[in-house]
Amino acid sequence: MKRKLGYFIASGITILWVLFFYQYVLFHQNIQELDPNEGANRKIKHLSALFDDVHNLEQDSEKIKQYVERVQEVIGVDGGDSSLAVLRKEIPVIPVIVFGCNRPTIKRSLDQLIKFRPSAQSFPVYVSQDCGDAATADAIASYGDQLTHLKHTNNTPINLSKKDKKFEGYYKIARHYKWGLQQMFRKYNYSAVIIVEDDLDVAPDFFQYFAALYPLLALDTSLWCISAWNDNGKADLTENNAELLHRTDFFPGLGWMLTKEIWNELEPKWPEKFWDDWMRRPEQRQQRSCIRPEISRTSTFGKKGVSNGEFFETHLKFIKLNDVAVPFRERNLAYLLKEIYDPRFNSIVYNAPVIRLDDWKQKEIVGLPDNAAVRIEYRTKDQFIKIAKAIGVMQDFKAGVPRGGYRGVVTLVHRGRRVFLAPPAGWDGYDLTWN
Ligand code: UD1
Ligand code: MN
Repeated sequence: MKRKLGYFIASGITILWVLFFYQYVLFHQNIQELDPNEGANRKIKHLSALFDDVHNLEQDSEKIKQYVERVQEVIGVDGGDSSLAVLRKEIPVIPVIVFGCNRPTIKRSLDQLIKFRPSAQSFPVYVSQDCGDAATADAIASYGDQLTHLKHTNNTPINLSKKDKKFEGYYKIARHYKWGLQQMFRKYNYSAVIIVEDDLDVAPDFFQYFAALYPLLALDTSLWCISAWNDNGKADLTENNAELLHRTDFFPGLGWMLTKEIWNELEPKWPEKFWDDWMRRPEQRQQRSCIRPEISRTSTFGKKGVSNGEFFETHLKFIKLNDVAVPFRERNLAYLLKEIYDPRFNSIVYNAPVIRLDDWKQKEIVGLPDNAAVRIEYRTKDQFIKIAKAIGVMQDFKAGVPRGGYRGVVTLVHRGRRVFLAPPAGWDGYDLTWN
């Protein structure tokens, strides 16, 4: 028995090693572009961080055991295939629900969804139409049996105080969402759904992205959504790397996948208005995260919407839409599992040297190789806003979480360098008063 456990732990450690090494090779290919000495130094530094990670895990054999089981389940390393390349869990039929109202330009979204979906069987498209607008209904009907047209017919006026009247659109959206999601999970009984709005463009690998990440969402209970959207996804704030994915504590929405399990939780308390900000509240989020891409797999062309194009002109229209197809199902995505991601993330962020904002603004970065990462530290909300303004990332918080943030850290690329806007080391939770 003891021997068996010993073998188990030994093979567990070996698997972890292979896994960490694979991650290392996959995501640090850019190191080769550095000058050779610098590359070697960074490799050593990085490897030693990985050593620490494995070492920490070695302290706790039970944790390793559970962890190895999870990893085996996700990537099937015990199946005789040592490529570690594929998340092999079976993927169910995943429908897309497109929420529409009175914009016939919904055709722009539908054309892309139909063009890019690998098959109509695996990704059935449902359009849920609110508002009863005839031109929009015709536009949807023109797709015939390529999609299913659902009609939300509850148009009863919502009783609102004078003060709340201006938010009527948000009430209608929340009501429509509840109905549409009930159709997907209760009537049609799907186990997960991809949610899209009628003003979204989608990337060529939109479906592949969600299909590949479904197993991760199903397995990693610290995740509660997969989103196609990068809130800070402007071209000059992102690395030109379509492969790269991140974890975020900020619920991005805007092309996202929800499982029935999470819907079971949300349905009984679904809000009357502002459903997306409600999702961002700690009571709903419960410290869970979403996966988001470095380069967005959606972008919005809805200039005039319910929120009156609040951010459209200043921000939304600059979000870069990915245009190369990444075969995510052939990639090892286990690096996104919390147990692997968090220690690496902390090590990379907190090993990056701190640069003062003023020095960064004056481009005075002395003694660092061109593409080494840097960290700009913030301690207060005002400090964060000041830095965010200077760099051009979103400045707002919802329930204490900055857009795109993970463990308080907003990661972006600026002037060709990876930059982390980070709280001091030892972060222990969001401050709900930052809003
Ligand atoms: C913003 C968000 C959106 C969120 C909404 C609710 C962005 C860019 N958009 O909406 O993701 O869902 O707030 O908080 O952050 N719709 C109806 N019934 C209506 C009016 C609209 O179902 O009476 C649908 C639209 O078809 C669309 C969605 O609701 O699918 C959002 O409407 P839109 O007008 O685009 O509002 P945004 O300001 O973008
Ligand atoms: Mn919109």
